[in-house]
Amino acid sequence: MAEQGLFSSDLINPEVQAALPAGYTARALRPSDYDAGFLDCLRVLTTVGEISKEAFTERYDWMAKNDSYYLLVIEDSSSGKPVIVGTGALIVERKFIHSLGLVGHIEDIAVAKDQQGKKLGLRLIQALDFVAEKVGCYKTILDCSEANEGFYVKCGFRRAGLEMAHYY
Ligand code: ACO
Repeated sequence: MAEQGLFSSDLINPEVQAALPAGYTARALRPSDYDAGFLDCLRVLTTVGEISKEAFTERYDWMAKNDSYYLLVIEDSSSGKPVIVGTGALIVERKFIHSLGLVGHIEDIAVAKDQQGKKLGLRLIQALDFVAEKVGCYKTILDCSEANEGFYVKCGFRRAGLEMAHYY
């Protein structure tokens, strides 16, 4: 039996899958992605730290139970061994306002350095937008640096509001 992912394959946008290069697959994160370079892919974004397989699995299991975490990966199997070359997350927030509205938060978009510029980032956002719409979000929001604004504009987002932060 195929290993189960964090969410149903019904939530994978078929148009995104069709637009990916040959040998590439968009799918939900799986526990075995620990060994396929998932954390290395995230390292293009920021510090990840040294995470053991046990700690990774514990966090994965928590996300799977929580039912609000949609972590998506793009796998490249074109040269045999599957490697994670892109990842992105949608977290669904359940509100009281807007008649119990759901808001999608896009987080942790990362495309491996040697794979950037092939539209994989765009495909990740399109795939996460599809999930957000399918699960019933009325909007999706994200924070990014000025340097990435142009990328998100190309993905159909527009500037709205201002990010503020407290670090602890
Ligand atoms: N500024 C302006 N335009 C950009 C940028 C940018 N920084 N990056 C890509 N684009 C454009 C491309 O030129 C392309 O335009 P085109 O359609 O006219 O050809 C379009 O956006 C789509 O680009 P992709 O090829 O899909 O981009 P890529 O696969 O390289 O992914 C990404 C972009 C995700 C920003 C990648 O460079 C990356 O992983 N960077 C490091 C990590 C990072 O900064 N992640 C985003 C953090 S913000 C967050 O997670 C919410």
